[in-house]
Amino acid sequence: MARLPDDFLDTLRRANPIEDVVGSYVKLSRAGSLLKACCPFHSEKTPSFVVYAHDASPHFYCFGCHRGGSVITFIQEAENVGFMDAVRILADRAGLKIPETAGEDPALTNLRDRILELNRAAARFYYKQLLGDDKRGLTYLAERALKPETIKKYGLGFANSEWDELAEAMQEEGFTPQELVAANLCDWSKKSQRLYDKFRDRVIFPIFDLRGSIIAFGGRTILKDDKIPKYLNSSDTPAFKKGKNLFSMHFARKSGEKRLILAEGYMDVIALNQAGFSNAVASLGTALTPDQCRLMRQYAEEVIISYDSDAAGQNAALKAINLLREVGIQPRILRIEGAKDPDEYIKKFGADRFRLMLDQSVDAVSFELNRCKNGLDVQEEGGAVTALHRAVQVLAGITNRLDRAVYLSRLAKEYQIDVHTLEGEVDAAIRRKQRTAERDNRRELMNSAGLRQAARYTSANGNAAARFGAEETLLWYLFCEPETLERIAQEIRPEHFVNELNRRIYVYYSACVRQGASYSPSLFDSEEFSAQERGYLMQIQNHFDGVSISGAEAEECIRKLLHPVLSGQQVGEMDDDAFRALFSKQ
Ligand code: UTP
Ligand code: MN
Repeated sequence: MARLPDDFLDTLRRANPIEDVVGSYVKLSRAGSLLKACCPFHSEKTPSFVVYAHDASPHFYCFGCHRGGSVITFIQEAENVGFMDAVRILADRAGLKIPETAGEDPALTNLRDRILELNRAAARFYYKQLLGDDKRGLTYLAERALKPETIKKYGLGFANSEWDELAEAMQEEGFTPQELVAANLCDWSKKSQRLYDKFRDRVIFPIFDLRGSIIAFGGRTILKDDKIPKYLNSSDTPAFKKGKNLFSMHFARKSGEKRLILAEGYMDVIALNQAGFSNAVASLGTALTPDQCRLMRQYAEEVIISYDSDAAGQNAALKAINLLREVGIQPRILRIEGAKDPDEYIKKFGADRFRLMLDQSVDAVSFELNRCKNGLDVQEEGGAVTALHRAVQVLAGITNRLDRAVYLSRLAKEYQIDVHTLEGEVDAAIRRKQRTAERDNRRELMNSAGLRQAARYTSANGNAAARFGAEETLLWYLFCEPETLERIAQEIRPEHFVNELNRRIYVYYSACVRQGASYSPSLFDSEEFSAQERGYLMQIQNHFDGVSISGAEAEECIRKLLHPVLSGQQVGEMDDDAFRALFSKQ
């Protein structure tokens, strides 16, 4: 794999000060010489995320979720992208050019650029068609009350009934059939041995990324035919990952608003924009994903879920609530009454009424508590009891005690029951939840490869309690005393490390030292390690920070690595019961 030159990575990191980059995602506050924040990667109420901006090798570390590393690692985690994409984002940000030969397969980079060019040309083509002789597209958009300036703003277009007009026009502009297929604009028919256009008889919605490049398309049929899909969307291409983008986010981020409106469809978002709500976004023909939630979180403190008022919409809202909460956003929910979606509501009642409704949107807990009454007659005792039981579960899900107390007393009043009785029920439900969670957790750990590795290591060590043992201690010793590497390497070969990750760290680090490098967190900025693996390295650093390992201790570690109590292979071959027994003994 091609590697980026170290001096380029140095320049890149220096041009992107970690406090600035992190600061654009979370609010950092100063604590002595450190910068702190609530961790953007797991939800927490007190900050355990620290930025060491003035360290020789600036880095971050979260004491809660153990993520950590350089500014490149941060972008990988924050944007959920691979190493090279993170480098690309930071290079863009600082206006640096990535050295040509390095990084990913140049053919792929090239294809991505070509697809973006092709998409732009196609959007122009579709726009021309919209204004062409076949007026059906324009008529449709006019019927949906879109103004010309809205159509222009979104670059909407039209694909007529022809089978290959786009294919022909784009090839004339110099794009190849392969590129048309890779961009998902055309398919290749084996039977007739020709290209045909994917979008026909459809109004076209270009999908932009944050930089304003067209990365994909959505198309709505103008035919009244139940047998064909209402919307067609590009599938993933080298230039487009569906679950990572939000429709209209490039406008929303410029709206300057701290709250976003999350709608269900393209048309809702466009209608909202036309009515003056440029902070509206939608997921792209799929259910909302965690990546999309993280994207929203970068720009907004509050998200108002504004889904369709039907049952499907409300169920989707419930899912969205949980996903948004997981990234630390407290969502609010809009109850659209008298219309099926925001588009229809604005047409019927106007933008001002919609704005009023936004201000009256309820917090997610109230929304869920309300849902508990669905299908029940709470005037009757039976109905009230069932609703209360459901409500207890909702309250048990609130982690903040103060928040919980507020809803507790409100609910007790509503159902006219003693608040302490209700509280007792909720506490019991919380304990049940915790027990289940612990059990699930243990099971997951037991099954995870991670623990198998940990077991290999602990068994080689005879000490299950310590988080880090001989392998990590030796690594840390080598990080601090690189000049001892050659001598130790005569005894310790990579395969003496039972933990696969430790082994890779050893191999990689040895190669670095032989090239004259020394340890720092950013030494591991390489495609060979995932962002999580770099977090593990930071965990080691934090564990041993300030501790100096003596030569004698290092010798003891070497002895343990050379003479494991149980070999990794033995543990690896154990069946699950034997494996569990190993744990209960220690
Ligand atoms: P809706 O059917 O609610 O779409 O689906 P809408 O935007 O209100 O459509 P109009 O108003 O009838 O034109 C919501 C979203 O789900 C996706 C689209 O992204 C759509 O905007 N969808 C829906 C599809 O991808 N395919 C479909 O067949 C239907
Ligand atoms: Mn709809």
